Order: sequence, then C-alpha cells, then structure tokens
Amino acid sequence: MSEDIIDLSIGASVKKIKAIPKTLADISQIAKWSIAYFSSVREQMLAPNPVKVAPTLTLSQIAKLCEIDKIKANNTINKNTLNLPSGSDAGGSNIRRFTLAESAEWYEAFMPHRARPKGLLAKLICIGNFKGGVTKTTTTLTLAQGLALRGRKVLVVDLDPQGSLSTLMGMSINPPVPQEATIMPFIYGDEEDLSYAPQPSYWHGIDLIPACGLVAHTEFEIPSQLAHDQTFEFWNVLNKGIAPLRDKYDVILLDTPPALSFLTINALMASDAIVIPVPPNGLDYASSVQFLSLFADFNKSFLKNVPSLKDKKYDFVNVLLTKVENQKQATTVVRDWIIGTYKDLVLPAEISLSSGASTSAAQFKTAYDFSTYSGVNKVYQRTRDECEQFASIIDDQLLDAWLNDGAKDGD
Ligand SMILES: Nc1ncnc2c1ncn2[C@@H]1O[C@H](COP(=O)(O)OP(=O)(O)OP(=O)(O)O)[C@@H](O)[C@H]1O
Ligand SMILES: [Mg+2]
Repeated sequence: MSEDIIDLSIGASVKKIKAIPKTLADISQIAKWSIAYFSSVREQMLAPNPVKVAPTLTLSQIAKLCEIDKIKANNTINKNTLNLPSGSDAGGSNIRRFTLAESAEWYEAFMPHRARPKGLLAKLICIGNFKGGVTKTTTTLTLAQGLALRGRKVLVVDLDPQGSLSTLMGMSINPPVPQEATIMPFIYGDEEDLSYAPQPSYWHGIDLIPACGLVAHTEFEIPSQLAHDQTFEFWNVLNKGIAPLRDKYDVILLDTPPALSFLTINALMASDAIVIPVPPNGLDYASSVQFLSLFADFNKSFLKNVPSLKDKKYDFVNVLLTKVENQKQATTVVRDWIIGTYKDLVLPAEISLSSGASTSAAQFKTAYDFSTYSGVNKVYQRTRDECEQFASIIDDQLLDAWLNDGAKDGD
C-alpha cells in the first residue's frame, strides 16, 4: 500500500484531552471519593438487601444432589420417614423451598458415604494463575458453593489484597475489612495460628477469612523476617497457620492474587491440590505456561535443599477452561493447544463465557446466588449447570484423595 492512501480520519475524530496534573493529595481525594461511590453502587446492586442473601433450593434440586428421584423425595416428606425438613412455601407459589441448612440435612441423610472419612483432614486447594482476570476468584466461590451443597464444610481464604473474594461474599469495603480480621495478625506474629480468623458467611457451610489492602504487607513482612533469620521457612508460613484448621473443615480453598508472590508461593506449598483457571485465548494460555514454569524454577532454585519438600505431592492438579466462547473460531484452536500442553490435567468440564456475568444485576453474584432460573435469570442456569459439573468432579477427586490417604494409613 502506498503512503498517500493511508486513512488518517480515525485520528482526526479523536477528542483532544488536555493533561491535568494531579498531586498525591489529589489521588488520596480520588481514592476517598471512589470508596464512598463504590459503596453506594454496591448497595444499589444488592438492593433491597445490602447484605448478601443466600438462595433457597427446590425439592428437585435437593433430590438431584441426593441422587434420588422426585417420587422418593416427596415420599420422604409425606411419610416423614427420616425426620427431614419439609421446606416452606414462603411466596405462596405452592413450590416448597429449602434453606441451604435444610438442604445440608437432606444431603447428610442420603449421602453419608460421601463424607470425609473420620480421622482424615481437610484438603487445601489453591486456585492460582498469575494472570489477572482469569476467574480465580469466581472459580473459588462457585467451587466453595458447589462443594458446600455437597455437604462439605468449606473455608475460603482471601489471600488477595484486592479483597475481591471478600467483596463477592458480601463484605463491604466501606468500612473496609479491618486488618485484624485478615491473615495479618498471624503474619505479624501477634497470633500463633489462623484459628482466630474464620468467620461465618452468608452461605451455610462456608466460612471466610477475608482480605483487605493491608494483606499486601505480607510481601514486605516475609522477606524482612527472612533477612533477620536465614532459617526462616518463608514458604511454610501459611501452612503452619492453617494447620489447626485442618480438622475443622473438609476443604479449604485459597484464592490467590494475580502474581507469583510470597503469598501465592505459600498457598501453592500449603495446598494438596491446584486448580488453574485458563480462558482459552492466546495470552491467557501463554501466561499459564509461564506460571507453572516460574513455579518450577522457584522450586528448583529455592527449595532444592529442603528435605521435607522432597516428598511434596499434590493429590491433583487441574486446568479448568473458563470464559469459553464456543462460537469463536480461535477457541477451538487454543483449546487444542491447552489440551496438547496439559493433557489429562485439563478437566472435562468447562465454564462458558456468560452473557449474564456482564449484566449489572450480576456484578456481585455468582451463578449459584439465584433462587430461580426463569425469566431474566434464565441466562445463569447454564453457568450454574457447568459449575455443578466442575464441583462434582472436584468432589470426586477429594473423596479419592481421602481414600488414598486412608489406604496409606492402613498400610
Ligand atoms: N463465566 C464467566 N463469564 C463471563 N464473565 C465472567 C465469568 N466468570 C467470571 N467473569 C468475570 O470476569 C471478571 C474476572 O473474574 P475474577 O475476578 O473471578 O478473576 P480473577 O482471576 O480472580 O481476577 P484477579 O486476577 O484480578 O484476581 C469479573 O468481572 C467476573 O465477573
Ligand atoms: Mg481474584
């Protein structure tokens, strides 16, 4: 193409913007204003309940979870054979609805064989990938919800100073989560372990250790402790803090920041399993490859002389395709690259890009947060079904891992 036919009209139509200088004080002012503004946006989103409210379930949904048919579920209620909650007809719609706590009673009655075997401890799963925006936080919460529906007692730990998981779980950023509620008192050595930190959430069966911006100080605190004491096990901090919680929960999910930081290293080293969410597009795929290779380099250079880590083994490592856009031609190609790279690590369940996730009503919700999936909410049904498949696959692997542990103990 010769130079004289280059079309410059796009540049010509761009509105000119003047540079407006801002001082650090101005930036503080903007930050203050944005927190207040965000608070009001969040309250409008969650209106009429500024505090998040858990959904209720139908008998069909409970029957599916309990792997029984609807007739058996109805008989269980009518004959009251197991003394299980019969739900309530709150909206006068003639459809019984059950709270999550009631649903958990049903699950326990019908699925006792799925329970964590006695004497075995919680499994820690790290949701990690150092690329931002690949759905680590959404995956953490939907997995927690899917596992809690399957009777698991779940603790989620927000390790990201952005505090997105805490926000998604309904915690306000105004006033912000206090530092004392996060992992920080333990990181600073004011608490011996993390027993003080779990707090109940809006979802029955899920506790949360929240985060706030100050969690970022871990990245200064850990190296500073290492500088004072060369024998300090900087990769083992979280593992030690969580140890006393392992017999109180079935599963502990760690939501990590988009960086291979000290916190992420700690999460990876404390975990029994890793889930790496990867949207099938070129950059996210490339980034996931770097994530694993940096982690491997780190292990080689820093941890090669740590005898206790020689036997470190993950029960499972999964790659979860997320935000999948099947109608895009590139998706098929990149999915093939991902499968070619990670082979059987790639889960047979995928989470599609949800058009629902981009609506304003869903900004502080996951696909599990709805009680009904009709009308405007219909769009979340598919994502919920996909999350259910994902949760069920993880739950199976957890049970396998416990059974393997049990078998080893019996050796
Ligand atoms: N299935 C989906 N379809 C469409 N959008 C989604 C889906 N899942 C999550 N999102 C959106 O993608 C964005 C990023 O998700 P999320 O915050 O979970 O990613 P993240 O990896 O935790 O990000 P960060 O690296 O900043 O911690 C959010 O706006 C979220 O609502
Ligand atoms: Mg996140």
